[in-house]
Amino acid sequence: MAFRQPLQQMRFGGFKVGIADAHRLKSERSAPCLDARGKRGVIRLRYSILHEPNHSRINLPDEAATTAFAARFARVLLPGLVIYLRGNLGAGKTTLVRALLQALGYAGRVKSPTYTLVERYEADGLHLRHFDLYRFRDAEEWEGSGFRDEFDGRNICLVEWPEQAAGLLPPADISLTFEMLQDERELMLHAYTDAGQKCLNALPA
Ligand SMILES: Nc1ncnc2c1ncn2[C@@H]1O[C@H](COP(=O)(O)OP(=O)(O)OP(=O)(O)O)[C@@H](O)[C@H]1O
Ligand SMILES: [Mg+2]
Repeated sequence: MAFRQPLQQMRFGGFKVGIADAHRLKSERSAPCLDARGKRGVIRLRYSILHEPNHSRINLPDEAATTAFAARFARVLLPGLVIYLRGNLGAGKTTLVRALLQALGYAGRVKSPTYTLVERYEADGLHLRHFDLYRFRDAEEWEGSGFRDEFDGRNICLVEWPEQAAGLLPPADISLTFEMLQDERELMLHAYTDAGQKCLNALPA
């Protein structure tokens, strides 16, 4: 797993957990605290593990298949979801987001947020934020740009290149990971939280 940092791992609840594995964990105010010693000193965790990630795999033989999947996914989106989009350059992340917005009835242009880092949309009563963090470099920019405020429990945040802002981004409810083989793509779907699992469980056939 790309985020795993073995030096910061420890045992918790029977699972081996990396501090950087925050996407596997969900904040719970009532959960007991746990002190862990990481590379940056003692870190106080207030997280509990909900479940092992739920995952499935879909074959996308061509772009039309990606568009068709996006239309199914659009029907089960819930406000506040944080969705990481992983995969190499040209894997299909933006193509999926574009198709998702179109399936929600968005008629405007959906451009890749390569330079703006984020594009904002409203469609079908939902507030969506499309991030592309490929060019994100500076942690201070995270605060200054107000990106943190976009993860407000209402906006659906779709994040390309989340690894570029590891440690700053809130954990994912869902990750969608593209593997490339010419035009064909394999899409891995992982749910990390109850909300994410509820969404993936509801995917129509
Ligand atoms: N099965 C497929 N699903 C999605 N895109 C496909 C597929 N087959 C071919 N393509 C093509 O691959 C390209 C995907 O480009 P896209 O901008 O979506 O990639 P990306 O993952 O967002 O890349 P980047 O990391 O550079 O932002 C498009 O040109 C699209 O037409
Ligand atoms: Mg893209």
